[in-house]
Amino acid sequence: TKDWNGIEQIVLRNPQGGSARVSLHGGQVISWRNERGEELLFTSSKGILKPPKAMRGGIPICFPQVGNCDSLEQHGFARNKIWVVDDDPPPLPPNDSRGKSFVDLLLKPSEEDLKFWPHSFEFRLRVSLGMDGNLALVSRIRNVNGKPFSFSFAYHSYLSVSDISEVRVEGLETMDYFDNLCKKERFTEQGDAITFESEIDRVYLSSPNCIAVLDHERKRTYVLRKEGLPDVVVWNPWEKKSKAMSDFGDDEYKQMLCVDGAAIEKPISLKPGEEWTGRLEIAVVPSSFCSED
Ligand code: BG6
Repeated sequence: TKDWNGIEQIVLRNPQGGSARVSLHGGQVISWRNERGEELLFTSSKGILKPPKAMRGGIPICFPQVGNCDSLEQHGFARNKIWVVDDDPPPLPPNDSRGKSFVDLLLKPSEEDLKFWPHSFEFRLRVSLGMDGNLALVSRIRNVNGKPFSFSFAYHSYLSVSDISEVRVEGLETMDYFDNLCKKERFTEQGDAITFESEIDRVYLSSPNCIAVLDHERKRTYVLRKEGLPDVVVWNPWEKKSKAMSDFGDDEYKQMLCVDGAAIEKPISLKPGEEWTGRLEIAVVPSSFCSED
């Protein structure tokens, strides 16, 4: 299908009636629905589906930088580029495709991109929807350059919640965090679980690979499982910052929470020919369960 800007979108469906929609603009997942047709990702009613900016919501991909700590644009360029469908990707382990509906996308730097970030790479992204309705993203980034390079990365996942003040995040208690994407001052989480009553913009460091986001009002829990992504960004702009964002409704902060699988504290370094893989799988279940970890 095509959106109103003529940019292709791919719709994945499972036999149970679940779906996921991926835009070639940014390789961004812009919708994920369960078998009842309920949207599971937040997208802003003021979001703009028009390049060069990423639409506010869904899962934009932050690469080769998260935040704007270096000279590159905020959250890197990958989310603002037009990706292509990769018809012949190198194979992935069977678990990344068995019983799943999936699409493979590819991003390579243009001559223009190389002026800003002079590193040749191939970025392969597989987005899949399982029979169980789970959404999975697998990113493979290969250095096809003659020299090593390093990057930071995040799946900037905008989860849809009924009321942010009723939400809690489990799995990050006792973790160390940076209270800002770029300021490298360490704090330690004290609370039992994270709850929300003001703006939050933190990077939890070396966190467990399973994080649960509990939405009490909807009796819905997002279970995020990640691999290759040690850090977790937790972001909610709250009232004041929401008003300052032109593509975000003044009250929409109540209905979203970003919980990102990320690699930030220790940038990923790739030697020539090396490849890195980062996986995120999100499940929606009736109650919390990271218990087997
Ligand atoms: C979060 C950052 O990940 O993304 C915030 O921690 C930032 O600092 C937010 O404001 C949104 O970024 P952007 O570029 O999509 O407006």
